[in-house]
Amino acid sequence: MSERGRVGILISGRGSNMVSLVEAMRSGAIDADPVVVLSNVPAAEGLRRAEELGVATEVVDHKKVKPRRAHDAAVVETLQRYRVDLVCLAGYMRLLTPVMVDAFRHRMLNIHPSLLPAFPGLDAQRQALEYGVKVAGCTVHFVDEECDHGPIILQASVPVHDDDTESSLSRRILEQEHRIYPQAVSRFFAGVRLEGRRTHAAP
Ligand code: GAR
Repeated sequence: MSERGRVGILISGRGSNMVSLVEAMRSGAIDADPVVVLSNVPAAEGLRRAEELGVATEVVDHKKVKPRRAHDAAVVETLQRYRVDLVCLAGYMRLLTPVMVDAFRHRMLNIHPSLLPAFPGLDAQRQALEYGVKVAGCTVHFVDEECDHGPIILQASVPVHDDDTESSLSRRILEQEHRIYPQAVSRFFAGVRLEGRRTHAAP
């Protein structure tokens, strides 16, 4: 990539990971620019935060654009219009069809609030508490056709305390999410080599 990388960020809600990515790009910690924040939910709080940060926003409402394949096709078309090099899923609560996965293979990352492969899917922090693990965490990984499954770029762990609730554990994990997602994106633009499921940072 000769010019600065162009990043599209997909959200469904609050958008705190989106903010941490935008701030890291603006500060120069990531050698790329946030070119669009897209949501499937028109009322997503993160869209307002993106506007405040001066990032272009787009909505592809999943309640209006159906079925799932057509929704994904509209999202892909929008991201291509912004010429994004990398797509970051940041609390984007949608199962993806091959339309999306194929369009951005090895160019789409996700953050998930568990130490994958433990606790994929919804309510990962609650799953971790209910299972009784003593260590929890978060994972940034490439997206493939299976949910919360692709090759891992970075993980961070946190302790689970005896008196943790879902919200106290989620907060502790979220702090780590805000730290490792920008690091993983930075690593992506520096070059990540894939060897099966294993990823290697550029030397
Ligand atoms: C984050 O904890 C993220 O890891 C999680 O949703 C939250 C979004 O928060 N994503 C998933 O569970 C995806 N499977 P945010 O909107 O404040 O970034």
